[in-house]
Amino acid sequence: MDIEYVRSRFTKHFDGTTGFVYASPGRINLIGEHTDYNGGFVFPGAIDKGMIAEIKPNGTKKVLAYSIDLKDYVEFGLNEEDAPHASWARYIFGVCREMIKRGVKVEGFNTAFAGDVPLGAGMSSSAALESTYAFALNELFNGNIDKFELAKVGQATEHNYCGVNCGIMDQFASVFGKAGSLIRLDCRSLEYQYFPFKPEGYRLVLLDSVVKHELASSAYNKRRQSCETAVAAIKKNHPTVEFLRDATMDMLKAVKDEITAEDYMRSEYVIEEIQRVLDVCDALEVGDYETVGQKMYETHHGMSKLYEVSCEELDFLNDCAKECGVTGSRVMGGGFGGCTINLVKDELYDNFIATAEKAFTEKFGRSPKVYDVVIGDGSRRIL
Ligand code: GLA
Repeated sequence: MDIEYVRSRFTKHFDGTTGFVYASPGRINLIGEHTDYNGGFVFPGAIDKGMIAEIKPNGTKKVLAYSIDLKDYVEFGLNEEDAPHASWARYIFGVCREMIKRGVKVEGFNTAFAGDVPLGAGMSSSAALESTYAFALNELFNGNIDKFELAKVGQATEHNYCGVNCGIMDQFASVFGKAGSLIRLDCRSLEYQYFPFKPEGYRLVLLDSVVKHELASSAYNKRRQSCETAVAAIKKNHPTVEFLRDATMDMLKAVKDEITAEDYMRSEYVIEEIQRVLDVCDALEVGDYETVGQKMYETHHGMSKLYEVSCEELDFLNDCAKECGVTGSRVMGGGFGGCTINLVKDELYDNFIATAEKAFTEKFGRSPKVYDVVIGDGSRRIL
């Protein structure tokens, strides 16, 4: 990401001035999808792509914001009724509001930002944007808010200003990321552990189907609703069950007739997926990448057939991976488009990429994008 580029745009738009520059990354997730809002485990890592923003308090009550990539400029006030219409600006506005709700004395500022994490590709560009501003405003307006609460500011922004009832994974990974490490987070207790991730002889690569996902398009919220319905049914027999994390397959089977077949399928996937994260952690500790990969394929199957958040293009990429002997492959993130994440042996890498590109282009008339995963640091000030 190019700091000088952001600075040159900021200086141009704001009369030759300069501010402070902050960055936050997007994320990958090795395994544990749609488990976060079910109190389960996730296993993400920050990446070397994200958002950069230059920010300078302007002594007014207004935010003057410029999106460098979209070449769009928006001004807004800091009261609830001042919400801007542009969706990109709502993220910044939401973060300001959530910081204010937590007692931070946010004042007006000038800002310009740009990013190199692809939008709508399941790599959490929106969390990168939220974390950048949450981290920055906390420093610039002496907020004293801890890192977990900064992640929650981003999550609450999604809930209250963007219409997505997301879990905590993306914002957590963006704020807490550490170069070279994945992080296992228990989304119920919020305990986490860094796992250095250097798979000898393997690479992680993303293949972007370039199908834009529309997380906000109620499908995501509907999945969450299904899980909550199943929990409510289970709770009648087991009052201590708060999340699907607390439930077993036997508990779910016992309420099969009380919930819809769809809610049952969704919950089955989640219960199995939570266990898969733990299995992958165990396998990683003994360097057993074959098991890691096998679990990734199982996740893909569950996301495609039970949770139904895959699509033709992603299933196709997953099949290509299987045919090329790739160790593990699955749709990553919320789904409905975006990327597959692939664990590939070094010696198979070139053939896999060439084969997948050719086959995908023949079938869909366009090439998938390829991103080699580099695990980077979380939110920080860079200038
Ligand atoms: C999106 C959400 C996350 C998580 C994933 C699926 O990225 O923002 O909270 O639920 O989908 O694992």
